[in-house]
Amino acid sequence: MENLLILKGNIIFTQTPEEFKVYKDSYIVSNKGKIEGIYNILPEKYQNCLIKDYRNRLIIPTFVDLHLHASQFIQCGMGMNKKLLDWLNDYTFKLEKDFSKAQFAQEAYNSFADELIKRGTLRACIFATSSTIGTEILFEILKKRGIGAYIGKVDMDRNAPESIIESKDQLIKGTKYLIEKYKNEKLVKPIITPRFAPTCSDELLKELGSLANKYDLPVQSHLDENLDEIKWVQSLFPKTKNYSQAYYLNDLFGQTKTVMAHCIYLNEDEINLVRENNVMLVHCPDSNINLRSGIMPVRKYLDLGVPIGLGSDIAGGHRIALNESMVRAVQLSKILNINSPGIKPLSIQEVFYLGTKSGGKFFGNTGSFEKGYSMDALIIEDDKLISGRYSIEDRLEKFIYTGDDRNICARYVEGKYIEI
Ligand code: GUN
Ligand code: FE
Repeated sequence: MENLLILKGNIIFTQTPEEFKVYKDSYIVSNKGKIEGIYNILPEKYQNCLIKDYRNRLIIPTFVDLHLHASQFIQCGMGMNKKLLDWLNDYTFKLEKDFSKAQFAQEAYNSFADELIKRGTLRACIFATSSTIGTEILFEILKKRGIGAYIGKVDMDRNAPESIIESKDQLIKGTKYLIEKYKNEKLVKPIITPRFAPTCSDELLKELGSLANKYDLPVQSHLDENLDEIKWVQSLFPKTKNYSQAYYLNDLFGQTKTVMAHCIYLNEDEINLVRENNVMLVHCPDSNINLRSGIMPVRKYLDLGVPIGLGSDIAGGHRIALNESMVRAVQLSKILNINSPGIKPLSIQEVFYLGTKSGGKFFGNTGSFEKGYSMDALIIEDDKLISGRYSIEDRLEKFIYTGDDRNICARYVEGKYIEI
């Protein structure tokens, strides 16, 4: 029975985007990290087990951030008057070069990990930098902390400063080294990460696609984020019909599990390619606003059944807490709705679903509390004035809108308590 974990409290999650599932004063039981069930009255067989009684607190799934840059964390909230390509050149690339220095990488990644975990994101798809040493340091830090993450060495062989690009052969060597070292890890795993098509030669993309196929590894990148970027891709890949094809033709677009950030300007051909290849899209609302990139047509994609998750896109986005991205996704959708009343705004249930169960699918059965799902949970404590007066749904909405790490009093991944 030592593999059992039983938590008691007000359990709330989204099995579907339409509604919250709520179990007041109930028990959630997991065995070896997987959920066995939720019970209002604890079954006989568990009666003698230890119960963590969280009383009137909320028990919710942990957040899943499908797109962020660990290396950019200390840069949050800087250069925010710039658009994507200038922001990369004037701020981001200069910072990323320093992650080849082990001591700096150690300090900066520790500070990133502290904040990510504090704020309740315990599954994430992460860009490190092009430095193999720096990326290895990030793997080690997150492995020690016990959270789930896909971590990518950021591959680029052109159109960025010399200090952060490597030759194709160097890149493949470093990427392979990290794959071999971490491919059998349970929680921190490698992901093939071409930064974006403009900083990757066709030959590099081809080799990265072969690596993804050979090791059956997932892929992450950026796509259709900014209009100047899209024009640039057209000029760099003149024979390619659209931006998505630059990845697709190199086996980096759904041939293995793939997640693409932004996707604001997908044309109809690209939407079809996304759907045919089951590519997951990531909505990064803060980043879209800060860099004035545009607004992802989330409702249109959802209506077409395209899978979408949420991303903070640190440091295009300035806040690492994913509940803040949920709020911004609702707010952006309301702006669209004000201008075009036919476009229904996103509901709180929908954005919670995007940031938990929908994004969680990229990691397998995570992000929900259904049977067989990973026991990844946050315990939320709110003020007595609130908890004594409002419904569980209202209390969760308030936490999403106004809460922070002061309200998160415990965290679990696969049934294990996570220290902060
Ligand atoms: N496109 C290429 N690199 C980046 C990055 O670091 N951040 C964002 N938001 N977009 C990118
Ligand atoms: Fe990004």
